[in-house]
Amino acid sequence: MSYISSRLSVVKPSASMAASQAAKALRAKGVDVIDLGLGEPDFPTPAHITEAAYAAAKAGQTLYTAAAGTPEVREAVAAKFRRENGLDYTADDIVVANGAKQIIFNALMATLESGDEVILPAPYFVSYPEMVKLLGGTPVVVECPEATGFKLTPELLERAITPRTKWLFLNMPGNPSGAVYSEAELKALGAVLARHGQVLVLSDEIYEHIIFDGREFVSFGKACPELKHRSLIVNGVAKAYAMTGWRVGYAAGPAPLIKAMSTIQSQSVTSVCSIAQAATVAALNGPQDEVTRFREAFEGRRNLVVDGIRRINGLTLPPPEGAFYAYIGCASLIGRKTPKGVVLEDDTAVASYLLNEGRVASVPGAAYGLSPYFRISTATSEEVLAEAIARINAAVAQVE
Ligand SMILES: Cc1ncc(COP(=O)(O)O)c(C=O)c1O
Repeated sequence: MSYISSRLSVVKPSASMAASQAAKALRAKGVDVIDLGLGEPDFPTPAHITEAAYAAAKAGQTLYTAAAGTPEVREAVAAKFRRENGLDYTADDIVVANGAKQIIFNALMATLESGDEVILPAPYFVSYPEMVKLLGGTPVVVECPEATGFKLTPELLERAITPRTKWLFLNMPGNPSGAVYSEAELKALGAVLARHGQVLVLSDEIYEHIIFDGREFVSFGKACPELKHRSLIVNGVAKAYAMTGWRVGYAAGPAPLIKAMSTIQSQSVTSVCSIAQAATVAALNGPQDEVTRFREAFEGRRNLVVDGIRRINGLTLPPPEGAFYAYIGCASLIGRKTPKGVVLEDDTAVASYLLNEGRVASVPGAAYGLSPYFRISTATSEEVLAEAIARINAAVAQVE
């Protein structure tokens, strides 16, 4: 008999991490694979942030902190929300956790009763449904087709809401699609939510600063202030400041929810690493020019990838509006044969073909709840991306 809890039987490991593992396994056999599976900025953390962490450690900021975060980090987050998003929160409305992922996990743990439904517009971030299931909830996947820009519409939302709906998750710019909601689109969703008082909204805005073509980012909180009492605005330093390994995410929301999330944290991880919190203060309060530099680099890579993929017969790619992924349509490859005679039944088979024959690791759309697509990360150099596109092109050209 297994001693692993039955809770785990419904949970899958991360598909993007699995893709990366598969790439590593091939590499270990001497195969030259380009890994575009996992997405994280390939830049070093800006020096002033690392220096601030070092100074904090030397100054003795090495003890446990308040569960919700140090007063300094919560002040810095409140100031960020005011300055960048026009949101009015005090330090007491804020909790800091080990990454945006832990924020989301804590929020679900604090609120879900068995069978509560969580609406997940697809394509979605791979961890959302798994966290929901792990905590006893039911993911309600709403496919948001390319025709709606991979975005949830008021009609789709209205149809998905039931008396058991506890949360709606939004993610913008979206992973994997890059979709960004305009203020008008958010207000239209807000009008539906206003009619359903039981629904909480989690807006994952972690890619806020990676946004293209001069678009202005509008937080869900700014677009729908009337829903503030049931909105959780989630963000973090990982993507904007190239700080994925520092593990700091944060959120602002209604006091009872923030308090419950802090209680969970106090009884699980105690607090976020004190030194990483000091680094976060420096990131949020310090100069922001590197954030702009990263954004520009990501936009250049986005342009290169859109241009390259669109030249490949059989693949489609609407230009991602933000984030650092390309969600590539492969409908016209489905049902066709590889040179080895394998029928490409679905996007999992396409990703597997691209890995084994094209030597490029990607993640199949099935992992994001919307097929047939595959996702590549564009968070790597233009040279590597150009080579990856050439390999994808060569592999696709051989499909009969
Ligand atoms: C949409 C989305 N939310 C959250 C995260 C995780 O953020 P963090 O590293 O702060 O836990 C990711 C990382 O890939 C993501 O894509």
